[in-house]
Amino acid sequence: MSIYRISTRKLPEAQKLNGLLVRFISADSSLRDVLAAKIPAEQERVKNFRKQYGATKMGETTIDMMYGGMRGIKGLVCETSVLDADEGIRFRGLSIPECQKVLPKAEGGEEPLPEGLFWLLLTGDVPTKGQVKQLSKEWAERAALPQHVVTMLNNMPTTLHPMSQFACAVTALNHDSKFAKAYSEGVHKTKYWEYVYEDSMDLIAKLPVVAATIYCNTYRGGKGSKSIDSSQDWSANFVKMLGYDNPKFTELMRLYLTIHSDHEGGNVSAHTVHLVGSALSDPYLSFAAGMNGLAGPLHGLANQEVLVWLRKLQKELGANPSEEALKEYVWKTLKSGQVVPGYGHAVLRKTDPRYTCQREFALKHLPNDDLFQLVSKIYKIVPPILTETGKVKNPWPNVDAHSGVLLQYYGMKEMNYYTVLFGVSRALGVLASLIWDRALGLPIERPKSLSTDMLMKMVQK
Ligand SMILES: CC(C)(COP(=O)(O)OP(=O)(O)OC[C@H]1O[C@@H](n2cnc3c(N)ncnc32)[C@H](O)[C@@H]1OP(=O)(O)O)[C@@H](O)C(=O)NCCC(=O)NCCS
Repeated sequence: MSIYRISTRKLPEAQKLNGLLVRFISADSSLRDVLAAKIPAEQERVKNFRKQYGATKMGETTIDMMYGGMRGIKGLVCETSVLDADEGIRFRGLSIPECQKVLPKAEGGEEPLPEGLFWLLLTGDVPTKGQVKQLSKEWAERAALPQHVVTMLNNMPTTLHPMSQFACAVTALNHDSKFAKAYSEGVHKTKYWEYVYEDSMDLIAKLPVVAATIYCNTYRGGKGSKSIDSSQDWSANFVKMLGYDNPKFTELMRLYLTIHSDHEGGNVSAHTVHLVGSALSDPYLSFAAGMNGLAGPLHGLANQEVLVWLRKLQKELGANPSEEALKEYVWKTLKSGQVVPGYGHAVLRKTDPRYTCQREFALKHLPNDDLFQLVSKIYKIVPPILTETGKVKNPWPNVDAHSGVLLQYYGMKEMNYYTVLFGVSRALGVLASLIWDRALGLPIERPKSLSTDMLMKMVQK
């Protein structure tokens, strides 16, 4: 991890202070300049590392791992974040509370700006306020949608799930892919990352417009302005296009878009984007593929499922159910063969810090809200029951157990839409990773598979 200080004096590039590498860069360096300066050094570092340790074993694969969703196999490299089973996610070494502390905030705001998080994920550095402002402006300037995508969105049936609309629109944005064009014109592979960067910046800039268009078409009869103010940040413009004007909701959105961005490389959406990108499909095609994975109920759709589950529960048990009634309801869910949405995780073994920071937001801004109170009660009841089943490896809540409650409080009641917000945020992490995939020249992904017959023969030997 490194931090940097800003100075107008001529300074050495980096210096160790109290054991921490402090990078000095000029306050007006653009994101692209900073990245371009880092890539050759990182390529060299990885090359030397592989030369020295390339043959080092990182673990063993068992047959259970092969049938068990590859759980525990260390088979991917992801630079942007690492997930610790007990501590939760760290973005380039920084925990969520640390990000809340050091990343630039909007004027008068308390939550980090997602622009700053993207900068951190991509470069490993904490940007200045000025750099984040510049990035907000750049995204605002790149935000316009091509007409064919607007027409396509406006002609989609409002009964089509918002995630399907989202993935379709992102796929169609590849019409203008700078990477696809450069590739077809024979660009040298050392330059791939530059075009993936340009496409990623364009795509991130356009996602709030795509998402807001889907929201307004599906739930507001097409009404709502799609104008972007380049003096405003990415989240503020998004919230305005969605038709909301509560500054607290904008703050929530800044937090939401920051914490849903990245969860290391093996989750379905991140892994899919990386995999599809490894075939040199452009960032639009790769991201759309990832969004189709995020749309699954065991992944991003769980935030919608949580709300559906809570609303059914309230309908059956009333607004203020007793602990006993809640316990019975949870057991009923389990006995009917369903999962309790928002609980459990493939890697985490403690309460998700993304749940905790949303709970803290709720304690600060909506402590007496009925639905929040219900979610708090469920937090006490569900973990011991899941533990009692004897099979759930992590009985604690994940990010999805809390996000819907906050959105409901600010008036966004359309739960089918929630995963689209998750998708807008997820772009920051997976596209930062995709840029590094091409900068490091990673090859097409192709793990080996075997049949059961073959495995049986192999164990008998
Ligand atoms: C996230 C999730 C898919 C991880 O799956 P996993 O890594 O296979 O989880 P585990 O190893 O703990 O699963 C072991 C068993 O416990 C079950 N289990 C896990 N979480 C459960 C939950 N929340 N409710 C009920 N059962 C659960 C699994 O379905 C599995 O049952 P099986 O052996 O009968 O197939 C799983 O916890 C889940 O389905 N959670 C609910 C959906 C959700 O919140 N998703 C968002 C994740 S961020």
